[in-house]
Amino acid sequence: MNIRKIQAFETLPLRKDLLRPHLTPEQCIYPGDDDSTTCHLGGFIDDSLISIVSIYQRDLPGEENKRGYQFRALAIVEAFRSQGYGLALLHAVEKYARGNAADYLWANARMTAVEFYRKAGYTIDDKEFIVEGVGPHVIVSRTFY
Ligand SMILES: CC(C)(COP(=O)(O)OP(=O)(O)OC[C@H]1O[C@@H](n2cnc3c(N)ncnc32)[C@H](O)[C@@H]1OP(=O)(O)O)[C@@H](O)C(=O)NCCC(=O)NCCS
Repeated sequence: MNIRKIQAFETLPLRKDLLRPHLTPEQCIYPGDDDSTTCHLGGFIDDSLISIVSIYQRDLPGEENKRGYQFRALAIVEAFRSQGYGLALLHAVEKYARGNAADYLWANARMTAVEFYRKAGYTIDDKEFIVEGVGPHVIVSRTFY
């Protein structure tokens, strides 16, 4: 999988199909998508976009004294799952965050994906919360120091 930067609008069809099928692609635009500090990555196989993730310079509440990055909408097209591409994309997120002097990285993770983050070495918060229309989530995070 070849991972490179993409534009925010290029993430929208996969955000809708893989993460928010009940919304339109336009409704899958997130706050901060067009900020100059935001980065969108796409994973390509044979020039087809098969994975996406978006990274925002954004602190966790209560952690504003350190430099935090949030990633959102990390997803792999179903036919390409369980082949290590999710972990490869997560490593690209970590490389980007480290390259931008991040102290820590975090995400609101779906419960269905928590084991993926645990295996990748992330700390799993114990407070579950519901994202309307999507389901239960927890915060996952890792520090770089
Ligand atoms: C979660 C997701 C990104 C994982 O991607 P993937 O390419 O299938 O994951 P990988 O093949 O890199 O898996 C790495 C390891 O995590 C494990 N893993 C991956 N997804 C898992 C899951 N949902 N539950 C438990 N373990 C999981 C794999 O078995 C593998 O373990 P191993 O190293 O012991 O073999 C992918 O399933 C996906 O896109 N899901 C739908 C969208 C989604 O939920 N995104 C997360 C939003 S928070």
